[in-house]
Amino acid sequence: MASGPAGPAAGKRLQDKAPITGVKNLVAVASGKGGVGKTTVAVNLAIALKNMGHSVGLLDADVYGPNVPVMLGTNEQPRAVDERTIIPVEAYGLKMISMGLLNPGDKPLVWRGPMLHSVIQQFLRSTQWGELDYLIVDLPPGTGDVQLTLIQSVSVSGAVVVTTPSIVALADVRKAIEMFRQVNVEILGVVENMSYFNCPHCNGRIDVFGHGEGQHMAKSFGVPFLGEIEIDPQIRIGGDTGKPVASLGEDAPGSKSIYAMARNVVARLEVVNQSAGAPVVQIL
Ligand SMILES: Nc1ncnc2c1ncn2[C@@H]1O[C@H](COP(=O)(O)OP(=O)(O)OP(=O)(O)O)[C@@H](O)[C@H]1O
Ligand SMILES: [Mg+2]
Repeated sequence: MASGPAGPAAGKRLQDKAPITGVKNLVAVASGKGGVGKTTVAVNLAIALKNMGHSVGLLDADVYGPNVPVMLGTNEQPRAVDERTIIPVEAYGLKMISMGLLNPGDKPLVWRGPMLHSVIQQFLRSTQWGELDYLIVDLPPGTGDVQLTLIQSVSVSGAVVVTTPSIVALADVRKAIEMFRQVNVEILGVVENMSYFNCPHCNGRIDVFGHGEGQHMAKSFGVPFLGEIEIDPQIRIGGDTGKPVASLGEDAPGSKSIYAMARNVVARLEVVNQSAGAPVVQIL
């Protein structure tokens, strides 16, 4: 992305926008790669933050493949007060909006870029988020239309970049980091998901996708490392059954590393906000 609307100059210009009233921090959960656990991280991060006493919203920006409603176990329809006001649904104390609630079932959305742009804008602007400490945005894979719309529409406090340790994932994730850099979005740090597996049979540790590459990559980009999340069947089951492990508390299987990551995100945002002056999310 060397030039055009998302180039470095645009990034600076785009910091100057009107706020989403009441929202203190907007955190994008991203990765260049599909299937590395972005939604799992976004959902569990949001619940961990909520359980740590914060007010939290979750915006599912994966319009074509919205998985947040399933992972939160809800199919409630959001209410529209009028044409410009959507009331988000509530699950696990989070305010949430997702295309999966508006277009349930198996019928795919076949939309071009401008439609995507418009729906993300509406999710950001027309949802009654109220007072939030954190609005977490679950992004689709890649560095495409949705990412660009988000970055152009709202001042993102920071991005949590999710990877697995595999070389194939890392190659795409580096692109995501470069994209955020070029548009001046702070990288809060890298999370290595599916970092290792503790075998319950032999008590040995198996590095299914390798191990430690996320940390190496963070170091090579000069960005913080936010932590490792192990492969745990309970994490997958939690997502599939709409009972995310973070909702079971910090001591639940698979949950400890998620809470540790959440604390690191909070600490990073404090540093970022202090150096930026005011922790205000702004919108065009
Ligand atoms: N640490 C983990 N341990 C076990 N299963 C996991 C873990 N992280 C993610 N999964 C499982 O891997 C699958 C993919 O995860 P998820 O949907 O969160 O990835 P994603 O990056 O959001 O995918 P997409 O790119 O399609 O949006 C899901 O079934 C999820 O439950
Ligand atoms: Mg996802």
